[in-house]
Amino acid sequence: MTISRLTSGLKSPWRVLLFVFPWTACLLTLALQEHSVGYTREMEPNKCRLENKTDGIKAFCSNLRLKSIPQDLPPNTTTLIASHNIMQLLQNDSFENLTRLVSLNVGSNQISHLDSRTFLPLSDLRVLNMAKNRLTHLTDDVFDSNPLLSLLILSSNCFSSVPSGALATLHQLQMVSLDHNNIQKVDFTAFRHLNNISVIDLSRNIISSLLASDFEPLQNSSLDSIKLAYNMVRSLPFGTFSFLHRVSTLDLQQNAFLEFNVNSFLGSVIISELSVSYCKIGRIVPLKATSLHNKTTLSIDSVEMDGNEICSIPDYAFRGFSQTRTLNIIKNKVTTMTNGSFCGLDSLENLDISENHINSLPSGLFRCNPRLLVLNIARNEILVVNPVAFCGLSVLLKLDLSHNFIGRMDTHHWNNTALRVLDISHNQYTYINKKISSFGV
Ligand SMILES: *[C@@H]1O[C@H](CO)[C@@H](O)[C@H](O)[C@H]1NC(C)=O
Ligand SMILES: *[C@@H]1O[C@H](CO)[C@@H](O)[C@H](O)[C@H]1NC(C)=O
Ligand SMILES: *[C@@H]1O[C@H](CO)[C@@H](O)[C@H](O)[C@H]1NC(C)=O
Ligand SMILES: *[C@@H]1O[C@H](CO)[C@@H](O)[C@H](O)[C@H]1NC(C)=O
Ligand SMILES: *[C@@H]1O[C@H](CO)[C@@H](O)[C@H](O)[C@H]1NC(C)=O
Ligand SMILES: *[C@@H]1O[C@H](CO)[C@@H](O)[C@H](O)[C@H]1NC(C)=O
Ligand SMILES: *[C@@H]1O[C@H](CO)[C@@H](O)[C@H](O)[C@H]1NC(C)=O
Ligand SMILES: *[C@@H]1O[C@H](CO)[C@@H](O)[C@H](O)[C@H]1NC(C)=O
Ligand SMILES: *[C@@H]1O[C@H](CO)[C@@H](O)[C@H](O)[C@H]1NC(C)=O
Repeated sequence: MTISRLTSGLKSPWRVLLFVFPWTACLLTLALQEHSVGYTREMEPNKCRLENKTDGIKAFCSNLRLKSIPQDLPPNTTTLIASHNIMQLLQNDSFENLTRLVSLNVGSNQISHLDSRTFLPLSDLRVLNMAKNRLTHLTDDVFDSNPLLSLLILSSNCFSSVPSGALATLHQLQMVSLDHNNIQKVDFTAFRHLNNISVIDLSRNIISSLLASDFEPLQNSSLDSIKLAYNMVRSLPFGTFSFLHRVSTLDLQQNAFLEFNVNSFLGSVIISELSVSYCKIGRIVPLKATSLHNKTTLSIDSVEMDGNEICSIPDYAFRGFSQTRTLNIIKNKVTTMTNGSFCGLDSLENLDISENHINSLPSGLFRCNPRLLVLNIARNEILVVNPVAFCGLSVLLKLDLSHNFIGRMDTHHWNNTALRVLDISHNQYTYINKKISSFGV
């Protein structure tokens, strides 16, 4: 391939770059050659590029302005990449002669219609990517003959609801992506008996409410991840997550909760990581001591709350979060904390309250968190460090107080004997006592 042919297809800044740095073009040409060396053969008339893989032919048919699936591909084609074409529909006979397909990518086309028997011949199909098309629904029987389907990508289509009927038969399904659609309501009914499901992505839709009953079908499922980020969920009613007994990640970031009500987490909730980052949360509503009865086995290992609008952390803000080891409240507007703010967080090991507007640390601030290992208070507005704030932190290893306005540092009263890293850079010291060096700074 000559450089001129290559460059004619590139936008002008690249042409300039290639002109100035001819070696760039060589690298590019080499890369292209390497990609097509040996096993490749061009086929007329559809110009798909074929690669001979050990498990069958891999056909590259992207960007060819195809209106339909090429019919002259070898019958032993196992992977077909036909993305970025102009197909508007797939028909009953589209895959008649491609019965050995294992992986099919028809993403970035204009597909708005699938005949109900389109995928019937594809009994080996495991991966199906139909992202960036115009699908609005799937018929319930469309995947009846694809029992091995384990990865299904339906991102960026026009679904207004979860195609539950079609999904419910996919017993090997491990991941389904339905992000970037117009789905208004969660619907997990399809997953009731899909024991292998690991990731459900419903982010970037227009879901506005969540109810505890919505999650009931997932109660026995050990999902790795439920993604509900970038939706429009405004409130989390009492016990919303009470059916999530063992989910790894629940991603709710970029919704609009306005408040973080601990009531929402009552029940036998077991979640490894909960994210409510960038949810416009302005207020934490703690649980009353009496609400924490013995039916609650709230276990959330890590809570991400960065990028919200929290101004104050009330007493026992996280009552019930006794299993939580990591709490991140970075980039909020916290100014006010009390000696009870972090009470209830009995197992807390990592606390990050950096990038807030904290100007003082009350005495006994961390009195309820004897297991703290890493504490980050950087990028706040602290003028004076109150040594009694760190009282009782006998296993604290790392303390970051950098980027504050600290002018005086007196650590005589500190007895944080385990402290190994103390970052006090970017402050405004006029006085630092000697003991600091004993922390290995
Ligand atoms: C694919 O490889 C086989 C041997 O493994 C060879 O016989 C066949 O000609 C190759 N086909 C193509 C299209 O290169
Ligand atoms: C696929 O079929 C072609 C033609 O029948 C054959 O040459 C090739 O070896 C086959 N390749 C594989 C990987 O089975
Ligand atoms: C596809 O197959 C289904 C089921 O047999 C049939 O109802 C439908 O009419 C077929 N579509 C076309 C376009 O032939
Ligand atoms: C599939 O292959 C058969 C035999 O080569 C041919 O008759 C038929 O037209 C092909 N199907 C399509 C949809 O092209
Ligand atoms: C889940 O996947 C494993 C293999 O990955 C398989 O053995 C098992 O049958 C699948 N479970 C279900 C319910 O299909
Ligand atoms: C989960 O398991 C329990 C106990 O085995 C059963 O009663 C319940 O119906 C199951 N739930 C679902 C959604 O499968
Ligand atoms: C649970 O709480 C109820 C009343 O709040 C009490 O009667 C019961 O003994 C408690 N059960 C356990 C196992 O602690
Ligand atoms: C916490 O602060 C309150 C109010 O400032 C005070 O009455 C209380 O004694 C403090 N508790 C501890 C354990 O320091
Ligand atoms: C650290 O200091 C506090 C108060 O100054 C005291 O209550 C606590 O016993 C001390 N801990 C150790 C390990 O010296």
